[in-house]
Amino acid sequence: MHIGRSSSTLQLLFSAIPGTFTSAAATTSNVLVSKPGQATPIPGWDLQSSAKAGSNLEALSQPGVDTSGWVYVSTSKCTLMGCLLQAGIYNDTELFYSDNLRKVDSKQFQVPWLYRQEFGLEPGTGKYFHLVTHGITSRADVYLNGKQVADKQTQVGSYGGHAYDITALVDNANALLIQAYPTSYYYDFALGWVDWNPWPADNGTGVRRDVEVKQTGSVFLGPLRVLTQLGTDLEKSPANVTLKSRAQNLENTAVTVTVTGTISSEGYASQPITWSQTISLPPLSATDLTLTTTVPKPAIWWPKQWGPQPLYNAQVSVTVANNTLSDQVSATFGFRTVTSKLNSYNDTTFFVNNWPFQVLGAGYAPDTFLRFSASKFESEAQYVLDLGFNTIRLEGKNEHPQLYEIADRLGIMILAGWECCDKWEAWSYNQDLAVPTPVWTKEDYGIANASMFHEAGMLQSHPSVLGYLIGSDYWPDDKASPMYVNALKSQDWQTPVLASASRRGFPAFMGSPGLKMEGPYDWVPPNYWYDTEPSSSRLGAAFGFGSELGAGVGTPDLSSLKKFLSPADLNDLWKNPNKDLFHMSTETSSFHNRKIYNAGLWKRWGAPSSLEDYVQKTQITDYEATRAQFEAYAANWNSKRPATGLIYWMLTGAFPSLHWSIWDYYMHPAGAYFGAKVGSRIEHVAYDYVKKSVFLINRSLDKEGPRNIDIQVVDASGKTLYSTTVKTTTKPNTSKEVTSLASALKNIKDVVFLRLVLSDPASKDSDVLSRNVYWLSKTIDTLDWDNSDWFYTPVTKYSNYTALNKLAAANVSVSAQSGGRGPKGQSDSTVRVSLENHSSVPAFFISLNLVDKDGKDVLPVTWDDNYLTLWPKEKITVGVRPLGRAEPAAVQVVGKNVKRSTVRIE
Ligand SMILES: *[C@@H]1O[C@H](CO)[C@@H](O)[C@H](O)[C@H]1NC(C)=O
Ligand SMILES: *[C@@H]1O[C@H](CO)[C@@H](O)[C@H](O)[C@H]1NC(C)=O
Ligand SMILES: *[C@@H]1O[C@H](CO)[C@@H](O)[C@H](O)[C@H]1NC(C)=O
Ligand SMILES: *[C@@H]1O[C@H](CO)[C@@H](O)[C@H](O)[C@H]1NC(C)=O
Ligand SMILES: *[C@@H]1O[C@H](CO)[C@@H](O)[C@H](O)[C@H]1NC(C)=O
Ligand SMILES: *[C@@H]1O[C@H](CO)[C@@H](O)[C@H](O)[C@H]1NC(C)=O
Ligand SMILES: *[C@@H]1O[C@H](CO)[C@@H](O)[C@H](O)[C@H]1NC(C)=O
Ligand SMILES: *[C@@H]1O[C@H](CO)[C@@H](O)[C@H](O)[C@H]1NC(C)=O
Repeated sequence: MHIGRSSSTLQLLFSAIPGTFTSAAATTSNVLVSKPGQATPIPGWDLQSSAKAGSNLEALSQPGVDTSGWVYVSTSKCTLMGCLLQAGIYNDTELFYSDNLRKVDSKQFQVPWLYRQEFGLEPGTGKYFHLVTHGITSRADVYLNGKQVADKQTQVGSYGGHAYDITALVDNANALLIQAYPTSYYYDFALGWVDWNPWPADNGTGVRRDVEVKQTGSVFLGPLRVLTQLGTDLEKSPANVTLKSRAQNLENTAVTVTVTGTISSEGYASQPITWSQTISLPPLSATDLTLTTTVPKPAIWWPKQWGPQPLYNAQVSVTVANNTLSDQVSATFGFRTVTSKLNSYNDTTFFVNNWPFQVLGAGYAPDTFLRFSASKFESEAQYVLDLGFNTIRLEGKNEHPQLYEIADRLGIMILAGWECCDKWEAWSYNQDLAVPTPVWTKEDYGIANASMFHEAGMLQSHPSVLGYLIGSDYWPDDKASPMYVNALKSQDWQTPVLASASRRGFPAFMGSPGLKMEGPYDWVPPNYWYDTEPSSSRLGAAFGFGSELGAGVGTPDLSSLKKFLSPADLNDLWKNPNKDLFHMSTETSSFHNRKIYNAGLWKRWGAPSSLEDYVQKTQITDYEATRAQFEAYAANWNSKRPATGLIYWMLTGAFPSLHWSIWDYYMHPAGAYFGAKVGSRIEHVAYDYVKKSVFLINRSLDKEGPRNIDIQVVDASGKTLYSTTVKTTTKPNTSKEVTSLASALKNIKDVVFLRLVLSDPASKDSDVLSRNVYWLSKTIDTLDWDNSDWFYTPVTKYSNYTALNKLAAANVSVSAQSGGRGPKGQSDSTVRVSLENHSSVPAFFISLNLVDKDGKDVLPVTWDDNYLTLWPKEKITVGVRPLGRAEPAAVQVVGKNVKRSTVRIE
């Protein structure tokens, strides 16, 4: 199916590129901005290596230079590799195949590269122009029309955003030239990858964020900050809103301006609130404008699981004499509060709108070439909600404003912050720093300071922002911590700021961050999470706030594996369990192979008999691992030492990865996804592997009442060993232990199945709120806590599931119907898949995969449930919804003891 290209064809040969990639020269038809308050990104770029174009920046930044040999990209932002991919010089299908990525020539990126574009403007009296940057990696010289705008000491760092006054340089025809310098993660403030994945050959160098041109009158406004103050009764008390922006008078005379604030909301405010004030700005000055008003009945913004996401728009405009607009800025905001507190164990609990908020989510990875797509992130955000997660952590990957806009709209919290392990954490006391990384110089503090100002300005108003971690693995030193905190404060930051994501130490003035980072990052058995006592030695188990941890799972399913692994790679996967693999973490990392994971798989499930058998066993392993982790944290929300938060490591890979993902690079949800989804259900019943008890979990704020829990145990032949119904009531935002199964599970012979079904007896059809099936062996895995390493805890005795390899075949019939009616009678795109087990044995771990008429995966897709285990004679219907435009035609079905089949959708 795939052509693995040889290294020679991957060489970049610019001389062979035909001269057809030309950008438009500046003419009156490509005027970029034409009125005050307008800001437009440079829409595309001509790109060339300085080794080819030379470095006469004065000459190259004159309009009219012949760039016909350059590469043209029609995107406002891309790293060098991102641009070359966009231009078709590389192809990611090919680069990601096997180890082709290794073959990209990185030498070509060891010299500066040039980004160039021409555009029109209409300069004139009273018109001012700024060039606005948001970060260029690693640093840049910026030239316009033959003159320098900024040097590489000023335009520095991936998050260094600045506004340069270019009024004196602009003309009708303009040429902008940006020379981007090579990037080292050790010396530069960039977006590094540590051990996440192989590093891109260009280290992310280039114009990674928009570069905008903004036109104003004589007064220029900085980003809009919005402060909200809510009353004690959030929904009923009036709220104060303060709008702030830094106004610069660009003229050498005092000017009297009218400043107007507007607050509006579609659907939540019948009419906009508008108010004005008149002030005088001294000559060539910068003044913080502050406008306050009261919103009588604020509509409160909630995380998705707790309520709606009302959004408001704020705008500030400045007019000068004769009511002429000089500039305007706007921002989206919402009314909500976020606070955090250390409990008596020094664990952090977040509070959203004064409710204790258990963080359940995962760590975000951008694309390895930093290609951001708002529509892709929107699909990812849909997955996050489908999973029942409420938070995404960004470790030094703050992306673009659209990410926060999508999170605001969908109700997902974002825990942003700086990254570990490279220049960002180059402190003398950092023991994990890569050796060549020099500690910060005076210039470095300045770069970090400017970065914090810029990011704070970008994030400040968004209701989705849960907080900012100014350190990850290590806390910033005594000079950097107050600097960061002051930068956030001066940008009116209103959510918690924590020193780091770990317990290694903290600056005295900030106190403990109350987050733990003690592993695991590689495979551990399900009981690991429930083994919480004594908590001093139980590392990542379900207590406190785990800022990055997981069982290292996330094996893609076969259809995805075949997209990026060669036949030889696929053989290695199941025949060479200890082999180092390219599609894991970096070569020097502890996660360059699947040894620990495979040792467990082999011991617990027996040696795989084929690739298909191996992949199926990985999906069972992954499902069991993520379910246990999310369930254990959810179940222990109200324990003596509460589990206050969990950030699974990670959400998805930056490239097609064999581990550390809830879903794979192609967005195919598999075992890890559906385990996490079961484990994160809003109302749920879970089994604690250590206490052998059942927990009722309630993560909602508004579902109350009687509940039934049906509990059944059957053996591998389908014989019922135990059956009972527990009646209980449920309370909001609470987890509790409801019953013990210790005696019911005392005499397991080989393996049994446990089914927990939570239902609401008051609802018309005794609605099933949660259905959850476990496979349990005679004994749980034995953990050797004393010999834990930072990334895993060894297992000395494995549980034994091999009996499940010999399950009698189950006869399951499957049918699929589309074009049904939704709950409110509307037609919907849901396909309903019904499964019936006609046998007297359980039908174990049935996977369902939606495909189109060519048998290709329909992605992205959400399933109500998947990897189902059916009881003897049980019948289940699940819905599946394609999120994209692909047309589903059939469902592929296979189970551990259910034969492979493809069912056409009727
Ligand atoms: C990339 O390569 C794949 C496989 O060779 C091909 O199917 C695909 O069309 C190419 N993509 C682009 C954008 O050229
Ligand atoms: C990328 O960064 C690494 C580590 O900092 C460095 O060794 C390498 O030379 C860099 N690559 C380029 C192309 O600059
Ligand atoms: C809003 O501001 C007014 C005037 O300063 C103050 O009295 C009131 O307490 C504020 N309301 C809130 C909710 O903070
Ligand atoms: C403002 O309007 C007055 C009266 O119409 C005019 O005399 C003056 O030139 C205008 N000023 C500017 C800056 O346009
Ligand atoms: C919590 O932290 C404080 C301040 O560092 C320390 O004095 C106290 O002993 C800690 N408490 C626990 C339970 O670790
Ligand atoms: C950070 O920047 C602010 C504002 O420009 C400045 O006042 C402060 O001194 C800077 N701090 C450091 C440590 O560079
Ligand atoms: C969860 O709490 C909500 C909110 O009060 C309640 O309505 C619902 O019944 C509870 N569900 C469970 C399973 O506890
Ligand atoms: C695992 O269980 C199977 C059958 O249930 C048994 O034959 C085998 O000996 C067990 N393996 C170990 C290592 O105990």
